[in-house]
This record gives sequence, structure tokens and C-alpha cells, in this order.
Amino acid sequence: MDEDKRHNSEQKKTTQELVEQFGVDYPIEDIDSPENPRLGEVAALDAELNGSHQSLSEEEFREIVENGGVIISHVGPGNKLISEASLMLTSVEGGSSPLQRGLPEWLAYCDGSAVSKDYRGKGLQKQLLNAREAVAKEEGKLAIAASVRQRNVTSIKSMIKCGYIMIADSPHYYGDEVKDARVVMLKDFELGNPFKDLDSDHEMLEDSLRGIVEPSGIQEKLASGSDVISIAVQQSDEVDEVYNQAVATLLRNGYIGVACNDIDIGDSDSERSDAMTFVKLESLPLDVAEAIKLRQEEIQSIVG
Ligand SMILES: CC(C)(COP(=O)(O)OP(=O)(O)OC[C@H]1O[C@@H](n2cnc3c(N)ncnc32)[C@H](O)[C@@H]1OP(=O)(O)O)[C@@H](O)C(=O)NCCC(=O)NCCS
Repeated sequence: MDEDKRHNSEQKKTTQELVEQFGVDYPIEDIDSPENPRLGEVAALDAELNGSHQSLSEEEFREIVENGGVIISHVGPGNKLISEASLMLTSVEGGSSPLQRGLPEWLAYCDGSAVSKDYRGKGLQKQLLNAREAVAKEEGKLAIAASVRQRNVTSIKSMIKCGYIMIADSPHYYGDEVKDARVVMLKDFELGNPFKDLDSDHEMLEDSLRGIVEPSGIQEKLASGSDVISIAVQQSDEVDEVYNQAVATLLRNGYIGVACNDIDIGDSDSERSDAMTFVKLESLPLDVAEAIKLRQEEIQSIVG
């Protein structure tokens, strides 16, 4: 191969080339310029799908692109956008969250994502996560993070399935109101989440799920020194301060969140619940535990 050809074949892939591999039933488009008219459509979709929760304006999406960030969407029937997701690769002074303002060099940050209601449960969120991970790796990042509401169980599940762990808690992520609390999910590309595919009948989870605790019982459970602790949680838009406190207690006492499973507590849908499972870092192999602990300390110090 002559010098020029080798140089070309080693060139970095464009973001569009990277992300389009992940669009299975619907193509994924990189909305790559601040002038792209799709930005208005992205902002409208974000407002519609995130409702009263944190959503971004068209101007804020434009700033993400101007700051070297990436915005991607699935294109559905009629050329309509049916998802939206953003990724930040550098910190932004004046950003609206601690991870935007204090993003470390080694980390990429998923600043939100949403899938249109009619297209949920088809794996689109996982595709958006995997596509952003590919971009982060191409940019030389070592890990990718996202923030999520404590009881957004669907979102947390999708991240865990993609190899994220729950690593830090931020009671004042967007501001001082109760609704501003978030947890940080992290995927370290080297470590991943070794527990991501565990079913509820797996040996490690079985015992813990049998002894599932309500959030109010967390102190007692912690005192027992269990290596694996599962807490009951229900998907909800409402904040449950007792649950948030229980999660914070675990994350700040040497545990990380690694699995989220359905549990049957009755016959009807309203009686369904989920279990968020945490493992004690000390129970993991020493090198893994130490690597995660370092990440946990750094991220916790950024998000408060
Ligand atoms: C959270 C959200 C993005 C998930 O999108 P999605 O495309 O439906 O998710 P996926 O189909 O990729 O599902 C990933 C996992 O989530 C879980 N999941 C998805 N839909 C679910 C549902 N309706 N009920 C329960 N679990 C569900 C499943 O565990 C699924 O994994 P599996 O298929 O291997 O079982 C979507 O529900 C959404 O837009 N919600 C509103 C905005 C929001 O909360 N954004 C996230 C902010 S961090």
C-alpha cells in the first residue's frame, strides 16, 4: 500500500460513519452543524418527551454542537425524528450541570436522550447508547457517563444492559429542589459491568432478591455488612426522598449499583416492582475494586 492510501485508510471515521452502524430498523443521523434545521425538531422532541423534567432549548442543543459535542437521532417514517440523544466531549463553562462544567478529560458525557413513545421497547435507547460509546472511544475517551433520575427504572435498566454501573449520587445535580436529584451512571470501557446480564434466578441475585429491603430499612441492612443488597424501587416520575437517601447511603458507603430486575409481587401491573441491586466494592477482585473506587471518588467529588 502506498503512503497516501495507508494514510487515508487510517483516517478517523466521521461521526456519521460511526453512528450509522447502530441504526438497525431506523437509520441514525448525526446532526452535525449548528445551522442544521433539524436542531429545532430535536428541541421540540426533547421538550415533548422529557415533559416537566430537565429539557434543553434549541439554543442549548446548538451550543452542544458548537462546543464539539454530538447530537444524534433515529429517523423514522416520513423522515420524522423519533429519538434524540446528545454527547459532550469537553467541559463547558457555564453548563447547566456539574458534569458539563467539570467534565474530566478521560470522560464523555451523555447529556440526555429520549425515544418517541410509539417506538419504545424496541432497543432504540440501547442503539443510542452504543452509538455514543463508539464516538467516545474514537475520541480517545476511557469512559462514558450519564445522569438519570433515581426512579427512572427503564432508563437505568437500559444503561445497565449496555454495561453501565451506578456510581455516584448527586442530590443537587440541576439545582436545589428535590426534583433536581440525579444518580450518575458510568461505563468504564475497560471494566464495563460484569453483572449486566444477570437474571433474577442467578445465584448471586437470588438470595439478595429474596431478602429485598424497602428503602427505609437500608441502615439496618448496611449494618449487617452484606456484600449484595437489593432495594425495591418502582418506576415513577415522582421523587421518593427515602429511596434517594437509601441509594445515596449505599453509593457513599462503598457500594455500586450493578443490576436492575423485575420482581413479581402480585398478579396485576400495579403490583409489579423492580429491584435495584448493589454490590460492595470490597467483595470484588482487588484490582477491579480499586479502579472503580478511584472513578467513584473522582465523579462523586465533581457532582457533590
Ligand atoms: C428511557 C427511554 C429512553 C428508553 O428507550 P427505549 O428505546 O424504549 O429503550 P430500549 O428499547 O433500548 O430498552 C432498553 C431496556 O430498557 C427496558 N425497557 C424498555 N422499555 C421498557 C418498558 N416499556 N418497560 C420496562 N422496561 C423497559 C428493558 O429492560 C430494555 O431491555 P431489554 O429489551 O433487553 O429487556 C424511553 O423510555 C424514554 O424516552 N423515556 C422518556 C425520557 C427519558 O427518561 N430519557 C432518559 C433520560 S436519562
